[in-house]
Amino acid sequence: VAVKSFDLNITESIGAPDCYAKTIRYINGKYPAPAIHVDQSDRLRVTVRNGLESEAISIHFHGIRQLGTPWYDGTSHVSQNAIPAGKEMTLEFSVKDQSGTFLYHAHNAMQELSIFGAVIINEPAEVRKTLHYDDERTIVLSDSWHNSSLAQETGLLGAPFKWVGDPQSLLTNGITLSPNCSYLPMPQGATTGGYAVTIVEPKKTYRFRIINAATLNFLRFDIPGHTMRVIEADGTLLKPTKIDHLELNAGQRYSVLITADQEAKDYWMSSQAMWRKASAQNGWSILRYSNAKTQESTPPAALPARGPEIPSWMEDQLRPLKPPRVPQQEGDTRFYNFSQVALADGTVRWQVADRVYELPDQALLLQHYNNTIKNLPAASKPVSIERGRVVDIVLQSSVGNLNGVCEEHPFHLHGHSFWDLGGGNGTWHSGIKADVNNAILRDTVTVYPYRSAYFQTPLPAGTSCGWRRIRFVADNPGAWLLHCHIVAHLVMGMAESFIVGESNIPALPPHFPIF
Ligand code: C2O
Ligand code: CU
Repeated sequence: VAVKSFDLNITESIGAPDCYAKTIRYINGKYPAPAIHVDQSDRLRVTVRNGLESEAISIHFHGIRQLGTPWYDGTSHVSQNAIPAGKEMTLEFSVKDQSGTFLYHAHNAMQELSIFGAVIINEPAEVRKTLHYDDERTIVLSDSWHNSSLAQETGLLGAPFKWVGDPQSLLTNGITLSPNCSYLPMPQGATTGGYAVTIVEPKKTYRFRIINAATLNFLRFDIPGHTMRVIEADGTLLKPTKIDHLELNAGQRYSVLITADQEAKDYWMSSQAMWRKASAQNGWSILRYSNAKTQESTPPAALPARGPEIPSWMEDQLRPLKPPRVPQQEGDTRFYNFSQVALADGTVRWQVADRVYELPDQALLLQHYNNTIKNLPAASKPVSIERGRVVDIVLQSSVGNLNGVCEEHPFHLHGHSFWDLGGGNGTWHSGIKADVNNAILRDTVTVYPYRSAYFQTPLPAGTSCGWRRIRFVADNPGAWLLHCHIVAHLVMGMAESFIVGESNIPALPPHFPIF
């Protein structure tokens, strides 16, 4: 096994990714964080150095299972305590059974907003050959606000409740341009706005790895004039399927094949938020032929709003390349009804199965070793799952007592991939058969908004919106989070925690930092 070492030096300073100057977080001087490329057989050794002024941080590798290394999941309050400013920590893990497109991001409070980068695990050569592409490109999409994550968090948790609102910008590879841009003087090396350019050579076929690192927005991604064939979702190979546009939720990744067989020029690619009333319309970037005679600099007219339309989901067309090895038998079904609740004191939270989840101060996994889990308050107690159990989770979305709407939610599970068994409108019931044969193994799924209600007449509290069902084998002893990947929702309590195989959790490595 080859060990590949990476240093992630986190610093903060001024930058203007969309032309608006603010403090941003750099990794090794780059924003967004540099991509990490490894082979499936590699072991990763990642040293995270927290060079922030005052905030504690941790770095999570999203979608990497951390099989046998639960303490290196990088999740503050769960797998470790956050790394204080000025301190460092080394994570070491292998990615044995996984390949494809992943990401890493900060995982403490609302910091996810600020640090994200691509993780690419190459398939073994014999698999790579069967995918038929000449080269690859990575496109990281994100959403961006002008105020700080700390200000956002204060508003979300305080009374009166203040929602973060729609982002000011949709970035591609960390940049875009806001209208009427004029820069303040920037320090040398600072990130400044512009339109990201992806260069292709004529006639070649590319694997575009597209990552949604947004913290709020479900995105639609378009490449005009070119056919996209989707071949990978969250590390699982798919039957190559032609799609008109890509739809990806926060935390999801797809690979699409593109052949540069069109007129040699610039094309405006776009990302747009779906089901948000007033989201940014500047998600532009350029697909450039290396032999283009002219180059574009001004994007076409504003993108159409993607509001209350009732689309047919792209996801419905996707099929796994190989028959999925889903346990056919139903698992222990856990039913999670969730909704937004406006509380009497003026605060607003998200409830999952009647509880607003509160992350414990001391990491759950460390509390396991200290034998203090039993003392945790009800709001923080993890659910215990026996090792090896097949678990079905039904995510049921309902209207809360705040605003009468059905929203979409990207749900993500740590420590395991799961089979996506599909979803539907209204209320799930045990008579609904799971579509086992088309299940795609992934780590982030969408609970869609109720297909017709969004943006329309407010619905009464308690109305069922829709549901989604997932199945996984609890084969990775450790402490793990299941949560909405809208970071504001996570902060507002939209999470559940599990302790898997309590008596089988391996001993903590010596010298593991407790902070
Ligand atoms: Cu992408 Cu809990 O993480
Ligand atoms: Cu959510």
